[in-house]
Amino acid sequence: MTSPLFRTKKVEQSIRDTEEPEHALKKSLSALDLTVFGVGVIIGTGIFVLTGTVAKNNAGPAVALAFVVAGVVCALAALCYAEFASTVPVAGSAYTFSYASLGELPAWIIGWDLVLEFALGTAVVAVGWSGYIHSLLNNAGWELPVALGTRDGAEGFGFDILAAALVLVLTGILVLGMKLSARVTSVVVAIKVTVVLVVIIAGAFFIKGSNYKPFVPDAQPVAAGQSLDSPLIQLIFGWAPANFGVMGIFTAASVVFFAFIGFDIVATAAEETRNPQRDMPRGILGSLFICTALYVAVSIVVTGMQHYSELSVDAPLADAFKATGHPWFAGFISFGAAVGLTTVCMILLLGQTRVFFAMSRDGLLPRFFSRVHPRFRTPHRPTVLLGVIIAVVAGFTPLTELAELVNIGTLFAFVVVAISVIILRRSRPDLHRSFRTPWVPFLPVLSVAASLWLMLNLPAETWVRFGIWMAIGIVVYFLYSRTHSRLARGEDKTPVPPAR
Ligand code: ALA
Repeated sequence: MTSPLFRTKKVEQSIRDTEEPEHALKKSLSALDLTVFGVGVIIGTGIFVLTGTVAKNNAGPAVALAFVVAGVVCALAALCYAEFASTVPVAGSAYTFSYASLGELPAWIIGWDLVLEFALGTAVVAVGWSGYIHSLLNNAGWELPVALGTRDGAEGFGFDILAAALVLVLTGILVLGMKLSARVTSVVVAIKVTVVLVVIIAGAFFIKGSNYKPFVPDAQPVAAGQSLDSPLIQLIFGWAPANFGVMGIFTAASVVFFAFIGFDIVATAAEETRNPQRDMPRGILGSLFICTALYVAVSIVVTGMQHYSELSVDAPLADAFKATGHPWFAGFISFGAAVGLTTVCMILLLGQTRVFFAMSRDGLLPRFFSRVHPRFRTPHRPTVLLGVIIAVVAGFTPLTELAELVNIGTLFAFVVVAISVIILRRSRPDLHRSFRTPWVPFLPVLSVAASLWLMLNLPAETWVRFGIWMAIGIVVYFLYSRTHSRLARGEDKTPVPPAR
């Protein structure tokens, strides 16, 4: 393609950029660090909060199947991500991958999309964290004023002070350095996984077989679906909207998909990995596999402990223990959830700043943001800027609809990455790929279809919001990025060394 909009950045150039001392990040992460990172960000609001909502409203005990569906969609995408992350080990994830394959405008679109995914994802998790802290404070007999609590269902002016404070503290930790955050992360991940295992093992003793009947509840019609609240697929095909039944499993899958977001962030840390060619695929696939197994187990146990129609939507795991007369377990689980959500929030924030950093290094956003801190070697400027913006968003916004927006953005990124695998195989067959996606192009095509299917199961309203955000992105590209791009200015014309 000859249009400047589709100019591509050479893979070697992307790698060489990371070696400019002023713009280089520290290479300190191993495969284990990456897996811990992955598990740290993947297990969060999805399993701790959304399980109850979708079991109750969409799928019944078959929520376990919804987790399998969402897990399969993610595994397909992960196989594509792993090839790119091990070929192009540069900060920026799907953004960098598409700059090397599809061209500048598609790369900009995906970068802009990832900013949405990570920024709103951080806000969503911070608000969920704040909810758990409030419930722990309640247990201790303390109560914050309503105006300082979460905005979900709240009326009048208010600011979720805990959510905002969490984002600001984590921003500070990230500015101080990757190593510190990785160490803090490992401890917190251990606590979180312990809590999840306690739910599975202790909960298994309280399962009642009758709660599984029916495992897939019969489809139930809901109010006429010509509103923007209905899944887009129902509006397109004019289907009668229904909950439960087989279609309910897919609706549930498009929501619990949030529970898997994060494995793609492992790919954003490629540049900070000691041996990305070997460790990236291990980190991505390993963390995804562990989480899928835990989710399925947790949802089977929880829907066995309590009938799905009685599950709590705020704290389903803890409340299922309360319902069986074990409040001590409930307190322990709430505590673990609050601790666990901290790492999710931190890693989403990290992924977010790294994408912003990579876009700025390429000149698509002001270069001011890509000077790393002279002492900490971290991209402190985008970290602080985005941290403050996200803190404000988390303080003022209820999270439910934001979560769906995060899902659509992430699925869109999956589609672009899968297409990029096929294109890069053709345009750069010479590149060394330490991990190769199997069955190309069949598997990437399947990944595109699976991601689109989940996207179609999201509400039409979510599509409209997503469209507006992307339209703003296109305007910014044509007003600023197109002319400031380093590629456009010929700053990337230095000789390219031979491919590895
Ligand atoms: N997967 C993460 C969560 O469930 C984003 O909170």
